[in-house]
Amino acid sequence: MKVTTKTLQDMKIRSEKISMITAYDFTSAVIVDSAGIDVILVGDSLGMVVLGYDSTIPVTMDEMIHHTKAAVRGRKRAMVIFDMPFLSYQTGLKDAVLNAGRALKETGCDAVKLEGGVEQKETIKTLVAAGIPVCGHIGLQPQSVNVYGGYRLRGKADEKKRLIEDAKAVEEAGAFAVVLEKIPAELAKEITGVVSIPTIGIGAGPECDGQVLVFHDLLGMFDKFKPKFAKRYGELGKEMKEAISSYVEEVKKGIFPDKEHSY
Ligand code: KIV
Repeated sequence: MKVTTKTLQDMKIRSEKISMITAYDFTSAVIVDSAGIDVILVGDSLGMVVLGYDSTIPVTMDEMIHHTKAAVRGRKRAMVIFDMPFLSYQTGLKDAVLNAGRALKETGCDAVKLEGGVEQKETIKTLVAAGIPVCGHIGLQPQSVNVYGGYRLRGKADEKKRLIEDAKAVEEAGAFAVVLEKIPAELAKEITGVVSIPTIGIGAGPECDGQVLVFHDLLGMFDKFKPKFAKRYGELGKEMKEAISSYVEEVKKGIFPDKEHSY
């Protein structure tokens, strides 16, 4: 059975944790889906880990559409969420509906995600009214890195009240879930208790209803940033380099292809 917004809501009610991971192409979607992941997020983090940009700011709708189409082709059970890139929804309600609608129509994804709390309440409301499921994203918002001057922890004492308001606004607007990024674990616990929609944490402690990590961080394939919250479950970057070095060496020495790999 495919994972839907209702599945996630029921999981929160049953206190069953939700697993989410990013994936940006067919092969990685097949792998994470077959590993039993509940939700695939085609995150705009692809700008950094796949396209080599310095931040998520340059990512375009066309790039997101291209990658999400591939990820959708690879999933069987998981819900696929399309991450709305910078300036695809901040420029007005009409732009938000047209871009999010385009994401659903062209990629076959199940929902969209956008960054922002109170200030995006109307946008979320409008998208949901148009039939587009929305996942919110509050706390650290990478698309606003230039406003905040970096990727620091959010929701410390002076921001705590505002973050709770953000979570409530996202819920009231009709979002089906909300990502909490890089906030104190105690605050994430409080928000998780206050809202009835599932909270999905990244750097937000263990008390969220679910967790999300970036594919390349989890597998040890991206070394440019190593945030404290990004637990590495493998060192695939190292293994891939070793495998490719062996291939290079065998080609240079004429060892590959051997009889077994020739016709
Ligand atoms: O783009 C992304 O990968 C994200 C996650 C970090 C939640 O938004």
